[in-house]
Amino acid sequence: MKPQNPPSPSEAGQALQSRAAGVPVEIAGVSKVFRREQMQTQALERVDLSVRPGEFIAVVGPSGCGKSTLLKIIAGLLPPSEGRIDIAGKTISGPHTDLGIVFQSPVLLDWRNVLDNVLVQIDLRGGDPAAYRDQARALLAKVGLAGFENRMPRELSGGMRQRAAIVRAMIHQPPLLMMDEPFGALDALTREQMRIDLEKLWLERGQTTFFITHGISEAVALADRVIVMTPRPGRIERIIEIDLPRPRHKAVITSRRFRSIGPASSATWMGWPRRAQRALP
Ligand SMILES: Nc1ncnc2c1ncn2[C@@H]1O[C@H](COP(=O)(O)OP(=O)(O)OP(=O)(O)O)[C@@H](O)[C@H]1O
Ligand SMILES: [Mg+2]
Repeated sequence: MKPQNPPSPSEAGQALQSRAAGVPVEIAGVSKVFRREQMQTQALERVDLSVRPGEFIAVVGPSGCGKSTLLKIIAGLLPPSEGRIDIAGKTISGPHTDLGIVFQSPVLLDWRNVLDNVLVQIDLRGGDPAAYRDQARALLAKVGLAGFENRMPRELSGGMRQRAAIVRAMIHQPPLLMMDEPFGALDALTREQMRIDLEKLWLERGQTTFFITHGISEAVALADRVIVMTPRPGRIERIIEIDLPRPRHKAVITSRRFRSIGPASSATWMGWPRRAQRALP
């Protein structure tokens, strides 16, 4: 295991301060085999990773390599076949509530407006939704949904629904945020705006974040470290440190350095043969 790096000096002071809001996550020797009758599928094989509090981890890898399975194991929704997950030093033995999850397609309640969809998170935890109204409005405004608080989900675009789902996943200030291809269904422009919004929220709140994506540029643009997984059974193929300055505004993500870490080297990351790499645009 590589030694843990402290947060890079380029991170905003505010971000450094808020880092305490995240929890450390230890993934130790996690394997997962799904068994049904005579069939068995090994989804994950001996995954080890130490994630520091407030770190932004992006996970990339071919379809079916076990990314969603890993996320569900960390969330306690699936037990590992081997190994363990420790969150803030405590071994996970079942579903836990101290986290927020965003799935690829936003799951909103059709009969509740945007604000009430966000506040359902507080309801479910036995809190007082009224106490969170102002905060929910402020967060919605941060992701461009000011003025849409009273709209019903059917009146929103896909991107707006996903923004509401992200706010719902963060309203209770979870120390851990899990996102499984949250921008997968969005067009390129909306996706870029969502990336900017997400980075802004993460810089302010500092929660430890796992972000699964098929977009290599998106992974590099968002993450402190990108975890590249092998085809099934998923193992960690390599870990790429992304020490680009934050916030990662346009000048950063159009820089030569960004391209040299990300798009230009993605084929090498994925272990593709040289011949295939030469064929890349
Ligand atoms: N509940 C399950 N029962 C049996 N097999 C499963 C189950 N969940 C996942 N698998 C298998 O485990 C493997 C990994 O699945 P997983 O959904 O984690 O992949 P993924 O990396 O998230 O893929 P994608 O990028 O397509 O979302 C696949 O072969 C899948 O068929
Ligand atoms: Mg998946």
